[in-house]
Amino acid sequence: MKITKDYSLLPHNTFGMDVKASLFIEYDSVEELKQILRDYPLEGDRWLHIGAGSNLLFTGDYPGIVLHSCIRGFEVVAEDAEAVIVRVGAGEVWDDFVAYAVSNEWYGAENLSLIPGEVGASAVQNIGAYGVEAKDLIMEVETIEVATGKERVFRNEECGYAYRESVFKLSLKRQHIVTKVSYRLRKTPSYHLDYGNVRAELEKSGCALTLSNVREGIIKIREAKLPDPKVQGNAGSFFMNPIIPYAQFEALSARYPQMPHYEVDAQRVKIPAAWMIDQCGWKGKQMGRAGVHHKQALVLVNLGGATGKEIIRLSEEIQKSVSDKFGVSISPEVNFI
Ligand code: EPU
Repeated sequence: MKITKDYSLLPHNTFGMDVKASLFIEYDSVEELKQILRDYPLEGDRWLHIGAGSNLLFTGDYPGIVLHSCIRGFEVVAEDAEAVIVRVGAGEVWDDFVAYAVSNEWYGAENLSLIPGEVGASAVQNIGAYGVEAKDLIMEVETIEVATGKERVFRNEECGYAYRESVFKLSLKRQHIVTKVSYRLRKTPSYHLDYGNVRAELEKSGCALTLSNVREGIIKIREAKLPDPKVQGNAGSFFMNPIIPYAQFEALSARYPQMPHYEVDAQRVKIPAAWMIDQCGWKGKQMGRAGVHHKQALVLVNLGGATGKEIIRLSEEIQKSVSDKFGVSISPEVNFI
């Protein structure tokens, strides 16, 4: 366990904000986490658990306890002819898990290659890309309940998964800390290539359809569009794609027939926020030291030395113009701290 006072969170947030936590605690095991809960009763909103900080925007110093898991390890806990179940420590880097799955020829995680963040957050945020979401793989999520220090196991169907949502973000917010996540991966080929340009990109590269080529292809697509946080601070998609009623979609698509959309169910349609932001002319624009990425309008970037407040100001202007033009409200995917 490592406990540090007045700790700079610069290496722990991909937006590159140099803010301090009053106390930073990093733990290596479930036992250590239980010890922390005994020694530092976590009350109210004076504490925060972070992963890789790839979905956070700090607006100032954090006057409380910041926890970070270093629980590591990959463990095959069950296996049959069709699938394996791998139990992974919450502090593992997400993409290390994807690389591990691909190197073992286990299918399912490859479309989620290169998503920044850690395994614990994959279960809280239900991360997703290119037609696959973490919930499609998750079997069980192990947690420690903050109030009692007790271990609990949530089966997939108890996690309330939806687009970028889970019970850990909603009804059980701040009540559980994820310690391990078990994923089911298939041993036989099953690819998801129908999202956007994934199949076309793979065919263009002329490579055979193999698991490692799909991973490489996804990495290329992401690298071509999304800024590397090591080079330019950002937190990936800043906004969620709004889900609107079908009737509203019909009215909008009469005005904007070229508007991309994905059906969620018979009543609801998801509209790409990136497209609407782009249509409002924001791509590549800047306000002070905050900018809109020139290749993906959904990504806000720190052009160097921006404060959290500057980023938020830009995001509010974007929300206003999307609402004025399309009558659709878009909400941040990034958490403001
Ligand atoms: N588009 C534009 N202008 C842009 C960017 C995109 O018009 O500047 C259009 C595209 O042409 C496309 C549509 O918007 O028709 C959707 O774009 P894209 O496929 O790039 O995906 P997205 O909806 O913008 C989501 C996820 C990403 C994920 C990609 C791929 C959310 C909030 N974002 O973005 O996730 O990588 O799909 O699956 O759902 C993240 O969450 O941080 C993230 C990067």
